[in-house]
Amino acid sequence: MPDNNIKLSQRAEAISPFHVMKLLAQAKALEAQGRDIIHLEVGEPDFTTPEPIVEAGIAALKSGKTHYTLALGLPALRQAIADWYLTHYGVALSAERVVVTPGASGALLLLMGALLDPGKSVLLADPGYPCNRHFARFVEGQAQLVAVAEAAGYQLTATDIAQHWHDDTSMALLASPANPTGSVLSRDDLMALSSAIKAKAGHFVVDEIYHGLIYGDVDTTTALAIDDNAFVINSFSKFFGMTGWRLGWLVVPEAYVPAMEKLAQNLYLAPPTVSQYAALAAFEPDTLAILEQRRQIFEQRKAVLLPALIALGLKITATPAGAFYIYADCRHFLNDAQPDSMALSQFWLQEAGVAVTPGYDFGKSGAKTHIRFAYTRDSARLLEAVDRIAALYR
Ligand SMILES: Cc1ncc(COP(=O)(O)O)c(C=O)c1O
Repeated sequence: MPDNNIKLSQRAEAISPFHVMKLLAQAKALEAQGRDIIHLEVGEPDFTTPEPIVEAGIAALKSGKTHYTLALGLPALRQAIADWYLTHYGVALSAERVVVTPGASGALLLLMGALLDPGKSVLLADPGYPCNRHFARFVEGQAQLVAVAEAAGYQLTATDIAQHWHDDTSMALLASPANPTGSVLSRDDLMALSSAIKAKAGHFVVDEIYHGLIYGDVDTTTALAIDDNAFVINSFSKFFGMTGWRLGWLVVPEAYVPAMEKLAQNLYLAPPTVSQYAALAAFEPDTLAILEQRRQIFEQRKAVLLPALIALGLKITATPAGAFYIYADCRHFLNDAQPDSMALSQFWLQEAGVAVTPGYDFGKSGAKTHIRFAYTRDSARLLEAVDRIAALYR
């Protein structure tokens, strides 16, 4: 029921909630009735935060680390992140360029605020992470969605940049690995994109939040290894298993640091203190060993789920190389009763107790015909989910 007493800004009116939230509420209601629901819609690791990070967080709390830090983050953490680029990617980086943020979400907000003028556009892949277009709207910019095909690896290409860039385009925001497709930009893709965007004198922004979660033999690296002027977003949420701690980071060209600092001070004062002390333990060898084990578990799950989904009748022609998502064409299951991905997700939830995310959440391209599966459950549960869906069609 619309409430006539509230007066929202056009900005707030224009931003839509996630469709999957409605599904999640229905799933919760079914669980309250005693139904067993297999959650394959959840975009976060099922693992809890590695013990060494938790211990560092507890120690920080106990020793009174409960005050604000500097707006750009703890110097020791900024240094640890810069060191990570050197040890992990061979990229030498001054810690001055690292901005610690409240999640990649905080990083996206800072970047959109700093780089996108009202009325100007950001090029985004469709399908893509839904919040990006909402962040653009929040700063009165325009999200310029470009449909990306499975054949093009579900990523914007240099040709897309040349074709779709117009006078009002300021930046292109890519993600590698991407949500919802798990597609990864190769070193060559990154190089081609960087030159295409440079030719337009635009900003090259890459969201690398799923970067630790890459499987198989993929020739890729951070965008910073290709282009020192790239803006790179990352986070402790996914690979490091710290979603609830709300901590991420940005690497920006040195000249942009004062602007980031000014915005950070005004938008949120500082990233969360306890989380920052905890994250200092994220790069320790013990933690990295745990994270590598988890990465391998995700890889095994993908190896179990992907062929099972294909055998079920879903069409997935490009093997996703990263993150923990499989984005599948579900047309085989569409009919008069379930004409699109939304109706199909409802049907699977109600009848099979399996929750998945309909393509509608990720843009327009493939919205009706695609579904995202998150393999954030163990292999036995993944196979049980596939069996339950298969049973509906026997
Ligand atoms: C591509 C992408 N970017 C950014 C985020 C935001 O993550 P966080 O704010 O937890 O770091 C997410 C979360 O799902 C995501 O999928």
